[in-house]
Amino acid sequence: MSVRLAITSQKGGVGKSTLALNLAFTFAQMGYPTVLVDTDPQSAVNLNLAKGESEFVGLAQLIKNPNSLGSVLLATNHPNLRLLPKGRMAAKAAPAFEWALYREGVLQKVVNDPLLADALVIFDTPAGLGMIPRAVLRVATHALTPFRPDQLNLRSMNQLMETLDFIQTEENPQLQFLGFVLNMFVRERAADLRVVADLWRDIPMVLDCVIPFSEKFAGSQEAGIPVAAYSDSIESRRFRQLANECLQNMVAKGETHEIRQLV
Ligand SMILES: Nc1ncnc2c1ncn2[C@@H]1O[C@H](COP(=O)(O)OP(=O)(O)OP(=O)(O)O)[C@@H](O)[C@H]1O
Ligand SMILES: [Mg+2]
Repeated sequence: MSVRLAITSQKGGVGKSTLALNLAFTFAQMGYPTVLVDTDPQSAVNLNLAKGESEFVGLAQLIKNPNSLGSVLLATNHPNLRLLPKGRMAAKAAPAFEWALYREGVLQKVVNDPLLADALVIFDTPAGLGMIPRAVLRVATHALTPFRPDQLNLRSMNQLMETLDFIQTEENPQLQFLGFVLNMFVRERAADLRVVADLWRDIPMVLDCVIPFSEKFAGSQEAGIPVAAYSDSIESRRFRQLANECLQNMVAKGETHEIRQLV
């Protein structure tokens, strides 16, 4: 069984795709065979990393041909990182895509495929707690949630925690919540500091690692290169710190054989 990390959040634009891509790259750099799965029908994950075409096949194509994972997994410029793009789909097909992921067990087949055995699988998900995030959380072993300080909304965080509790109890007892990651933090901004003070007082599951706001993210997104790939930059060190904290929390929260092997 592989380790499967879902990056989810109620709120949009908080850094899910950014975290998913940079964590996937960082884990790959640390030597773990890693697969980044894009489940967002609106996805903007820039896949310039991938070798090959730009109009990728992917998850959407697995709905009709569930046994063809091998033909839609993409190699990247990093030997330890593979990508499973959301695939080609017409805009009008988005509801069918959601339904297939939620009801037809497509993700279950993906994660059980021998091609992903021993891989660390990272899922990028669309915002909210709709069918796709729910489908991902059903097959995930761990979940991680970024948030921006200007969007601190304790109600939405509580809703997320309630959903995770429900999924743990009813659908996927192995799911572990690793915590919230503060992203786009600006230390010089008084409002950010106030939000963070509230957060540290009210929410117990905030990771120590903070990803500060950096202009480099915009440029790297354009170039299709993860910020974590800029060797020895502050950002790459932060993502390494985050990856290590995730691994430590995985061990602390459930010492499974697979995770002990990873750390
Ligand atoms: N630490 C950061 N510093 C500066 N910009 C950032 C940072 N993290 C993310 N961004 C930028 O913020 C924007 C939103 O990030 P991202 O797309 O990862 O969010 P998301 O949660 O996946 O959004 P959606 O809910 O729409 O899928 C992007 O333009 C991204 O480059
Ligand atoms: Mg996104």
